[in-house]
Amino acid sequence: MLRARGGWQALRCCASLPRARRAARLRVREALEAREPAGEVKVQGWVRSVRSQKEVLFLHINDGSSLESLQVVADPSLENRDLTFGSAVEVQGELVKSPHKMQDMELKAETIRVVGPCDTWLFPLKMKERHPLEYVRQFPHLRCRNNTLSSLLRIRSEATAGIHAFFQDNGYVHIHTPIITSNDCEGAGELFQIETSNEGRESTEKSHFFNVPAFLTVSGQLHLEVMAGAFTRVFTFGPTFRAENSQSRRHLAEFYMVEAELSFTESLQDIMQVMEDLFKTVTTTVLSKCPRDVELFHKYIAPGQKTKDRLEQMLKNKFVTISYSEAVEILKQTSQTFTFKPEWGCNLQMEHEKYLVKHCGEVPVFVINYPYDLKPFYMRDNEDGPQHTVAAVDLLVPGIGELCGGSLREERLPFLESRLQRLGLTDAYQWYLDLRKFGSVPHGGFGMGFERYLQYILGVGNIKDVIPFPRFPHSCLL
Ligand code: 4AD
Ligand code: MG
Repeated sequence: MLRARGGWQALRCCASLPRARRAARLRVREALEAREPAGEVKVQGWVRSVRSQKEVLFLHINDGSSLESLQVVADPSLENRDLTFGSAVEVQGELVKSPHKMQDMELKAETIRVVGPCDTWLFPLKMKERHPLEYVRQFPHLRCRNNTLSSLLRIRSEATAGIHAFFQDNGYVHIHTPIITSNDCEGAGELFQIETSNEGRESTEKSHFFNVPAFLTVSGQLHLEVMAGAFTRVFTFGPTFRAENSQSRRHLAEFYMVEAELSFTESLQDIMQVMEDLFKTVTTTVLSKCPRDVELFHKYIAPGQKTKDRLEQMLKNKFVTISYSEAVEILKQTSQTFTFKPEWGCNLQMEHEKYLVKHCGEVPVFVINYPYDLKPFYMRDNEDGPQHTVAAVDLLVPGIGELCGGSLREERLPFLESRLQRLGLTDAYQWYLDLRKFGSVPHGGFGMGFERYLQYILGVGNIKDVIPFPRFPHSCLL
């Protein structure tokens, strides 16, 4: 892919020029993937290792384009005091076949310029050390120069592109839903409220910048429902905020959620099929686009967890489906004791989710048809008794628990009106009721936590290790 882009075109143009003129600038990945010697090139990056021998100086340069670094071979006379681990350099020379079996190509340096020196004594990352994730978490501004985090961020980038490609390929329109909103979609009150920093406020009313209380979004779903009423299939993929316990290994105050909404959909199974297809397509893309980065996680971060085997199995088999009522029966019948006693009508706790996944063979499990009272106002009544269950679905995965949540939406005006009335929300949701008055259609959708998705496919225990900037320690908000 990369080879098709600017670098190689530039390289071809100047391949016939006499030496010492403008060298083609190559990314490390392009250099490593070159099939043939490429003549004079220039590579920029950060030094990952320096090894000085009597007759030769070896460097490894990384510029973030791949997990592997490019080996630079130089005359020891090019060594200088500033050429240390962590320094930024620009190396010009000839890209040649490497006699070493570790790499196909290497760069025979003619000049090495240190662009930015690095004090290795003070630099918290050390040459050739495999730093634990807990250690690098303390340096949110530097940890992306570490192999594990740079692999993670390349995977995150490919997965993001894969998610967009999946929806675009399947006829969905991408919508930028608002980040500042006045609705609490989930009704759980886990909201961050927004106010101005203006200190001289006279009254609470004046403090509302928008004249009404405003919050950071907990979900773009309600806005997607508006758009599904015009575009049929829509999705959004953006930052989401929840004021819940972010100390847990699977909760963040700020995370990314992928959400989809489909009109003319009468069955929960259709929604579940999209969830499963999304999951499998994006995972297949990630595995094929960055195999070495994924391998690093499976080998060193989650070696005992058999994450790789689990993923391969998962891609081959259909996900399992059970109802909430069946789930509670399974939990009641086991001899395992739980901190929270399983009861019909109570939320499934993490310990319950883990047990259910294990019971079903450590595979992803859809749990459907939850009690009416446990779920938000927008979910569709199954009419299997007076307000008994709703057409809701949660996807549970091994090691994580809930990865996706979705439902059919209540598209019937009288049902929605009476539910909003009971909750005292009729005035606030007039606009939402309008959607049921003007061309209402059966519809549904879901949301997938992007960080939990990455945790699952890579076998990462702590959610803080799959985000670009961890808030740790708490005083360190970059
Ligand atoms: O189950 P949730 O709350 O569903 C919704 O918000 C729906 N409105 C989505 C929709 O139907 N359009 O959240 C969806 C997913 C969860 O399953 C979980 O993976 C993730 O978002 N999530 C979190 N991830 C990290 N930190 C948190 N605090 C999270 N809260 C939810
Ligand atoms: Mg949920």
